[in-house]
Amino acid sequence: MLVTLNKILPIAREQKFAVGAFNTANLELTQAIIEAAEEMHAPVVIQTSEKAIEYAGMQELAALVTTMAKQSPVPIVFHVDHGRTHQVLYDALEAGYTSIMFDGSHLEYDENVRWTKEMVKRAHAKGISVEAELGRVGGVEDDISADEGLTDPFMARDFVRETHCDALAVGIGNNHGKPKRGEYLHLDVLEHIAELVHIPLVLHGASGTPEDKIKAAIKLGVTKINIDTDLRVAFAQAEREVLAGDKKMYDPRAILTPARDAVKEVVKQKIALFGSAMKAKEI
Ligand code: G3H
Ligand code: 13P
Ligand code: ZN
Repeated sequence: MLVTLNKILPIAREQKFAVGAFNTANLELTQAIIEAAEEMHAPVVIQTSEKAIEYAGMQELAALVTTMAKQSPVPIVFHVDHGRTHQVLYDALEAGYTSIMFDGSHLEYDENVRWTKEMVKRAHAKGISVEAELGRVGGVEDDISADEGLTDPFMARDFVRETHCDALAVGIGNNHGKPKRGEYLHLDVLEHIAELVHIPLVLHGASGTPEDKIKAAIKLGVTKINIDTDLRVAFAQAEREVLAGDKKMYDPRAILTPARDAVKEVVKQKIALFGSAMKAKEI
């Protein structure tokens, strides 16, 4: 069942669980995410970054994900991850996405407000949800220290009031990619944000984050948690093993099946950790 982000996150917030948001770029990752969600009876977000869209094509990804989501008994959100290019987001609003992220975190505050408002206006007119970002999530290519990217709680309160976004991604020391040495989640900052911001909060870069930190973040109001790298690592590891184990293997289906299974296992573990197992029926 294809649903909007807004259909799931308020329930998650109320019941103190988080919905896993997993990145896809192809058939096998999509199958792995949906099969895991179905086996765990969990709602789930399937998201595509701009690079994934560049890799596979927006119409192609939309056909794949929406076809599979509509046939599935669990609630599935189809979401643009870190949309920065305006035209990509405008196209997504027509292509079948039920949610978009406008990532204006690299812009000055006023510009971020201005463009987030514009995206909210366009998306809400079509019943589509909007996630925005204030503060910075560090990344492999963004050479910012965790402290530089921290979201200011008072700015976050004003930002949400001004933009009417449905969910807010925050910078609390989280980083994209494999965890960096010394990476530290500022749960005190999250707590302050959650006191002032009364919409669902989103944690990006959650791969490799210790389980106790994830659980603490959920308790404080995080209701969408983004995972990409852990899936990529599981996929790649399975591929290495299968190809090393049988040097004569050449059928792509046989090569990709163990990778799909490995990703599915990781998704199931994350769903269990986030407390969203068995929550499909609540939506
Ligand atoms: O947050 C970033 C996601 O992991 C997407 O990465 O831009 O390489 O597709 P990507
Ligand atoms: P990781 O790759 O660190 O899990 O981050 C995923 C993410 O935030 C996607 O937006
Ligand atoms: Zn992210």
